[in-house]
Amino acid sequence: MKKKERILTGDRPTGKLHLGHYVGSIANRVELQETYEEYILIADVQALTTNFDHPERLAQDIREVTMDNIACGVDPEISTIFLQSMIPEITELTIYFSMFTSIASLQRNPTIKQEIKALGLSDNVMYGFLGYPVSQAADITIFKANLVPVGEDQLPIIEQTREIVRKFNRMYQEVLIEPKAQVGVVGRLVGTDGLNKMSKSLGNVIYLSDGPDEISCRVSGMFTDPTKIRLNDKGHPDKCPVYIYHRGFNKNEAEVPQIKKDCLAGRLGCVECKKRLSGGLNEFLGPIREKRKKLEAHPKKIDDILIEGTKKARGIAVDTIKSVRAAMKINYFSG
Ligand code: TRP
Repeated sequence: MKKKERILTGDRPTGKLHLGHYVGSIANRVELQETYEEYILIADVQALTTNFDHPERLAQDIREVTMDNIACGVDPEISTIFLQSMIPEITELTIYFSMFTSIASLQRNPTIKQEIKALGLSDNVMYGFLGYPVSQAADITIFKANLVPVGEDQLPIIEQTREIVRKFNRMYQEVLIEPKAQVGVVGRLVGTDGLNKMSKSLGNVIYLSDGPDEISCRVSGMFTDPTKIRLNDKGHPDKCPVYIYHRGFNKNEAEVPQIKKDCLAGRLGCVECKKRLSGGLNEFLGPIREKRKKLEAHPKKIDDILIEGTKKARGIAVDTIKSVRAAMKINYFSG
């Protein structure tokens, strides 16, 4: 039997996950775990790039992200979920990579540029923040991952990883694998404001753990097609976030095309359309919520999953760092 290719992907633990994470990465992860050997990294060190002043939040956030993943169908019996900070070899590889990664190449990275702007960092960019593509390259390559499923916004980071790998392999020895990025089907989900990508910092999110009341509250506050003011005005469903969510999450296959038809014809009002979306989302998130509740009742089990996963992942990291040191001829006292 052919050996399965390896996937490495990850999340910064910055709180509970939302629907944007679901379509951008988690759904994809759940699907891919059958065909690939899947490693899911909880990037707690990377989370410090923007949360260094609140490190005490990580302990809880790590568990939230782990539970969200499992509640959505990531199976810890098949996939390995592990903690970045507990694999010191990642930090070591980050340092080696940082020796030959130029500051200019990091400053040019479109993801970094965009985040600096969005976070308003301008001339207060921290060393660790600017360097996170280097540490992410270490996350990926230390596991010799072939494929990296990520959101669209992360593509330049993976591209930088590929450059680092090429440079390393050329300069020292061919020991690292140049990974490919893979963007999920939807990739990017518009937020409830209908304008920006769904993102916690913009407050335009629906959390995977939201209950029926939170769902209807968030849905009723959603922006709709601004040209549709009265019930019988004709709408533009493809531009309306409410319809986009119907398409993505409403499991009632007959209802969705009917909503489109009725909205286009001016037969369906936004209030009714939202009511149906709340129902659809509730049906979609119900089983996830239930599973999450069960997980919340057994915190020790979540910790064990992380401890076991980290042990397994570390084994690979230790092997890779040995060949890295050998390739760089800095394995002074061995071999
Ligand atoms: N940068 C990713 C994010 O913000 C998280 C991440 C850290 C990651 N290390 C990774 C993703 C390695 C894929 C592979 O979502």
